[in-house]
Amino acid sequence: MKELEAKISQAGSLEELEKVRIELFGKRGVLALEFAKLKDIPNSEKKSFAEGLNRKKGELQRLYEKALARLKEKRIEDILKSEILDVSLYGNLDRKGALHPVMETMDRIIEYFIAMNFSVEDGPKIEDDFHNFEALNLPKNHPARDMQDTFFCRDGKLLRTHTSPVQIRTMLEQKPPIRIIAPGAVFRKDYDLTHTPMFHQVEGLVVQDKGEVSFANLKYILSDFLQYMFGDVEVRFRPSFFPFTEPSAEVDISCIFCRGDGCRVCSHTGWLEVLGCGIVDPNVFKAVGYKDVSGYAFGLGVERFAMLLHRIPDLRMLFEGDLRLLEQFR
Ligand code: DAH
Repeated sequence: MKELEAKISQAGSLEELEKVRIELFGKRGVLALEFAKLKDIPNSEKKSFAEGLNRKKGELQRLYEKALARLKEKRIEDILKSEILDVSLYGNLDRKGALHPVMETMDRIIEYFIAMNFSVEDGPKIEDDFHNFEALNLPKNHPARDMQDTFFCRDGKLLRTHTSPVQIRTMLEQKPPIRIIAPGAVFRKDYDLTHTPMFHQVEGLVVQDKGEVSFANLKYILSDFLQYMFGDVEVRFRPSFFPFTEPSAEVDISCIFCRGDGCRVCSHTGWLEVLGCGIVDPNVFKAVGYKDVSGYAFGLGVERFAMLLHRIPDLRMLFEGDLRLLEQFR
């Protein structure tokens, strides 16, 4: 018995104490054996024997409770010690992150148009046929749909191939006048030096209900924008085709690498194509229920701008996440 008392107070862990508890208070424990002796004791001595034993049992129990409380507290302290977290410790604060070159270029583009009083609109990346094609004067089976290799989803939806559907969504939700840009990711089944399956565009749309917009308005703002982005460049408009604009144009800047003399980047033409634009086709206004309005629109690829601004030769490099490339843009 004495020996067990010492064991209780000396137990170093909850597990050790539990073993002692079973040895002492368990069904076949020391105390149970002592109580079993009662039946062999003469009746006259039974009472005092039992009293003595109960007192002893009480003492042992108090001793046990005390040890239990002490060990539980110790357990908590041990956990707190082992899980200590020093929030005042710090690592390499000198390694700053930076914007990805595509996002940085996007921000610069957005900044220009915000300064020119455009607001920024957003739309879903999973689109339907109506917003991505039909309402933009690209009827089913129209050959112009071939210009954009589309990823189709199983439910008839598709990944938007351009940011032009945001034009449609905005016109369906708002009344003219409208003056918006729509930046965002777009998707096409394409992969080579200058194409990736996901890339970014900025779409622009201006619609007026009073006074007609002219091609001159469009020409002015895009020329000013391109000089803001690329510095002192020449800008030219070439007739082209887009289903959602009539007339349509593609816009070139004089090559920023050879200043127009001809080099590999501009395929020795002296010019770099940078965006598409035009006067909004009446069929687009019809699709959204607009009457007696006029407008212009434009669209550009952000990666193309980033590649030219930073002389990045392969578009795919921008999306490989190689830190050696990204660290050059810090
Ligand atoms: N949506 C066209 C594309 O992805 C870009 C574009 C061209 C947008 C002319 C326009 C536009 O709004 O007027 O290739």
